[in-house]
Amino acid sequence: GAEVVINGSSSPAVVDRSNESIKHNIQPASSKWRHNQTLSLRIRKQILKFLDAEKDISVLKGTLKPGDIIHYIFDRDSTMNVSQNLYELLPRTSPLKNKHFGTCAIVGNSGVLLNSGCGQEIDAHSFVIRCNLAPVQEYARDVGLKTDLVTMNPSVIQRAFEDLVNATWREKLLQRLHSLNGSILWIPAFMARGGKERVEWVNELILKHHVNVRTAYPSLRLLHAVRGYWLTNKVHIKRPTTGLLMYTLATRFCNQIYLYGFWPFPLDQNQNPVKYHYYDSLKYGYTSQASPHTMPLEFKALKSLHEQGALKLTVGQCD
Ligand code: CTP
Repeated sequence: GAEVVINGSSSPAVVDRSNESIKHNIQPASSKWRHNQTLSLRIRKQILKFLDAEKDISVLKGTLKPGDIIHYIFDRDSTMNVSQNLYELLPRTSPLKNKHFGTCAIVGNSGVLLNSGCGQEIDAHSFVIRCNLAPVQEYARDVGLKTDLVTMNPSVIQRAFEDLVNATWREKLLQRLHSLNGSILWIPAFMARGGKERVEWVNELILKHHVNVRTAYPSLRLLHAVRGYWLTNKVHIKRPTTGLLMYTLATRFCNQIYLYGFWPFPLDQNQNPVKYHYYDSLKYGYTSQASPHTMPLEFKALKSLHEQGALKLTVGQCD
């Protein structure tokens, strides 16, 4: 089949630094956007050459045993032992086994969601993916409530739950976990050594309080496979963000993919300020040189896919 042009230079490089985000204007507008089924299928096929979301979404019980040694993906010299708790929480079969959905929503955490009124639209999708345990209750009008899968980088425990320093924070996390109510909790436990204790705390909490979540821990090859796919399409990502990982996985089991809350820029399309996250006070500097992410580059690729009808980006208000 023909090549999928993800990083085409179709848009003229009009760079006006005073208006950074104007060049990110999303076209076609919501009403004119059409899903491109042929292209979506072609992308699914291409991605399947690099990874299989059904398998790579989680390591399974059969493949590890307590005491096994794992080298962290980003810190090859550091290792961890598979604990009894982790082993217990590994799924026996893929939580995505034979799953297929008509439409899926992937909800990023950009402040562009605030005042979007997208909650109802998001909740209407068959499968809703969220990132990093982002709060929903207080923002339901804009982000919805439905959660079928939510990710949790270990750093979230530090950033949003004060490293569980006291009973109050432990209770807060516990409440959030209980509210997941049977959905998939996706914990990248083998990425970086920094998260070792945090993953263990969460595992312990889930087991001790019989929290009703289906835990999943991405395969050791997922990161490199995702990077490989995008590199092949000339998108040079150092370390894919959670959002891009979720899109790449979703192509396997979602017919149509809708993205909300993907907007890594400090101004919106009307030049109004946008918060980095819809729910906290983290600043944009956070994604600067220090961060391994290259969100604007990812965004450019997603925007191109939107223009071709492979996915739909919503970066303003929902109707
Ligand atoms: N995102 C975005 N624009 C923002 C913030 C987030 O497009 N201003 C998207 C990114 O794809 C991101 C996802 O939403 O991966 C979830 O946001 P966040 O929790 O900040 O994810 P990460 O940056 O990947 O997580 P971390 O900071 O822990 O690496």
